Amino acid sequence: MTRSARLRRRLVEQLLDEDVLHAPEWIAAFRAVPRHVFLPRFFTPAGGLWAAVDRDDPGWLETVYSRDVLVTQLDDDPDRWELARRTGPVPGTPTSSSSMPSIMAIMLEELRVRDGHRVLEIGTGTGYNAALLSHRCGAGQVSTVDIDPLLVGLARERLAAAGYRPACEVGDGALGFPAGTLFDRVLCTASVSSIPLAWLTQTVPGGLIVTTLNRPIGAGLIRLVAGEDGTGQGHVLARDGRFMPLRAHRLAQADPLPRPSRDDWEQTRLPMSSVIQPRKQFEFFAGLAMPGARPVRDGTDDSVSLVHPDGSWVRHRKRGGADEVAQGGPRALWELVESAYVDWCELGKPDRDRFGVTVTEDRQEFWLDEPGGRTWPLG
Ligand SMILES: C[S@@+](CC[C@H](N)C(=O)[O-])C[C@H]1O[C@@H](n2cnc3c(N)ncnc32)[C@H](O)[C@@H]1O
Repeated sequence: MTRSARLRRRLVEQLLDEDVLHAPEWIAAFRAVPRHVFLPRFFTPAGGLWAAVDRDDPGWLETVYSRDVLVTQLDDDPDRWELARRTGPVPGTPTSSSSMPSIMAIMLEELRVRDGHRVLEIGTGTGYNAALLSHRCGAGQVSTVDIDPLLVGLARERLAAAGYRPACEVGDGALGFPAGTLFDRVLCTASVSSIPLAWLTQTVPGGLIVTTLNRPIGAGLIRLVAGEDGTGQGHVLARDGRFMPLRAHRLAQADPLPRPSRDDWEQTRLPMSSVIQPRKQFEFFAGLAMPGARPVRDGTDDSVSLVHPDGSWVRHRKRGGADEVAQGGPRALWELVESAYVDWCELGKPDRDRFGVTVTEDRQEFWLDEPGGRTWPLG
């Protein structure tokens, strides 16, 4: 057995141990598809910057078959990797990557693919996920689209080198696949602030759409069933995942926050972690209460604040073991959070997977347990 095949087996064992990979077809795909063909170069984190890694570097192959997300592009700039190679680690925001194998496994299984299905992937990136899909479904059944022509060119070459030739096109995935084909399954490997309606019209009635949501608080994975008339309905999934957004769905930079005075600070019973940490049960509901709000990290002391596009903000700190907040702007965001916490307790502390999603031409909303009752906007 080759070294890469051994490392692939080890990765599969880890995914089985993590309980994210179960289906024999996907186990076979992860064992067979050579991830290293799709990742001859990438970035690794280096103290807040990004270091360039090349296939000739020691440890390259082991990193390729680690459980990590491997960033392959920063700030949409194809030259940044060479720059980092020449000058040392560079700053930047990831704009393409090969996602964590665990979230890939979760999403592929949640897609519930059956033999004969036509599958569309939005966000080709390196092409690795398209290769996994091609292994499982047959490349002739798979279409993949990315907005970045350079990435599509490289992905096509690497897919062919690995023995797969799915339809691989340049385009805005928010418009579906350029050829306008109908699909049984649509998988978006980026996140969206709202569901592009083209996905629903390009999915056969009863077909499934799996995507992550670009909600800065309470994001996560959803699966929709396409309706007869370009509508969709589905659920937030218990298994969670966070992805970089589609280009047009990126959020603007937050303005610097004001410094509160000593008298602005008040004690609170809620730690910031309960609102922003994906592992916390309340996080999803907190996001429903404050659509548009997002956490920002303060570089000076690593504390986390919340900001809203309307100019509202919350700073948070620990003082002598107690949680304290200061807030400002047109809306008292932390009061919204605290009353949402009471609301959530009264509703019986529902987990994220008790929430459903309805998408029609004129509204996109969440509901609890059954459609028709109380709703919250998706965005
Ligand atoms: C997390 S990466 C996808 C990883 C990929 N599936 C893989 O296996 O390597 C997200 C990708 O979405 C692409 N993207 C961003 N906006 C897009 C859009 N509007 N339409 C299609 N692709 C888009 C980015 O260029 C990036 O390659």
